[in-house]
Amino acid sequence: MGNQDPQKRTALDESRGAAVSKEVPHAEKTSPFINLRPTGLKEYIGQAEVVKTLSIAIEAALKRGEPLDHVLFHAPPGLGKTTLAHIIAAEMGVNITVTSGPALEKGGDLLGILTHLEEGNLLFIDEIHRLPRVVEEFLYPAMEDFAVDFIFDKGVHARSHRYRLERFALVGATTRAGLLSAPLRERFGIVRNLDFYSDEDLVRIAKRSAALLDVKIDTDGAYEIACRSRGTPRIVNRLLKRVRDFTQVRADGVIRKETAMEALELEGVDGKGLTVLDRKFLKTIIEFYKGGPVGIEAIAATLQEESDSLVDIVEPYLLKIGLLTRTSSGRKATEQAYRHLGFSIQHGLFK
Ligand code: ADE
Repeated sequence: MGNQDPQKRTALDESRGAAVSKEVPHAEKTSPFINLRPTGLKEYIGQAEVVKTLSIAIEAALKRGEPLDHVLFHAPPGLGKTTLAHIIAAEMGVNITVTSGPALEKGGDLLGILTHLEEGNLLFIDEIHRLPRVVEEFLYPAMEDFAVDFIFDKGVHARSHRYRLERFALVGATTRAGLLSAPLRERFGIVRNLDFYSDEDLVRIAKRSAALLDVKIDTDGAYEIACRSRGTPRIVNRLLKRVRDFTQVRADGVIRKETAMEALELEGVDGKGLTVLDRKFLKTIIEFYKGGPVGIEAIAATLQEESDSLVDIVEPYLLKIGLLTRTSSGRKATEQAYRHLGFSIQHGLFK
């Protein structure tokens, strides 16, 4: 463990890139895979307080020669939970093992991973709120005492054996902090929420990614992509690639406001960054349920979507920008939502 060896970081990045380029049969010298994710804290744009907390914790752990405290990130998808886990490992100069709550079905699944961790390694568990209870219970002593308890036999013959683990750091990520059990949440030393990014930060991310993709972009073009990206870096990078295609085929190759607007309208992304599904969600509340309040299960049934994905993916940004409210009796579309979609508030009809 330690950050003295700068090669460690690049080795990590290269190994990720190589794994992808190996799968490309006629790969040229330069890999077509370009990693737009930042690989160090210094490159990371936005979430200033989280970055500061992490850099202090990492520096202190390295100074003491200890693993990092366990870290929990909660945020809607695409805001940087996984990226930060990889950055922590790179900054600590340790290996990272990646798994997810639903992938760990039995205690043995987790045990196999834990017993292979080396001193200081990072274990990243995505969707940690979906860990089965039996697996979660294995995690408690592992997090607290770096040990796991086996029970042999049953009834009066039951014997327990404690198996020591190497000291490791767990990074957990969840879209639903509220679904995490209290005993699990309490075992994390660092708990941080990642908020939606400001337009200014998203503009900087769009410009950084454009430079990595070797495409020219002006500030207005970057701004147009940023303000249609629902506060989310992953969406900036996805939309940037679509706008790049459009600009290279239909324009002069430089991303500007007009080409970005045209390309994104074609993608079904409107001026507030709402997608087809976002608009369908709001229209369902307005047209089918007279503006609400209506329960999420009713909306999900009408849309034929999973209620969990509506709660995780669609609702957070609509709540954030004030197009939706959540009351004890259900979801309601706001006046702003009616206006944005061109409905009259009195009649719920198109003007
Ligand atoms: N790409 C995706 N997320 C990013 C971030 N937070 N900073 C810089 N580049 C990014």
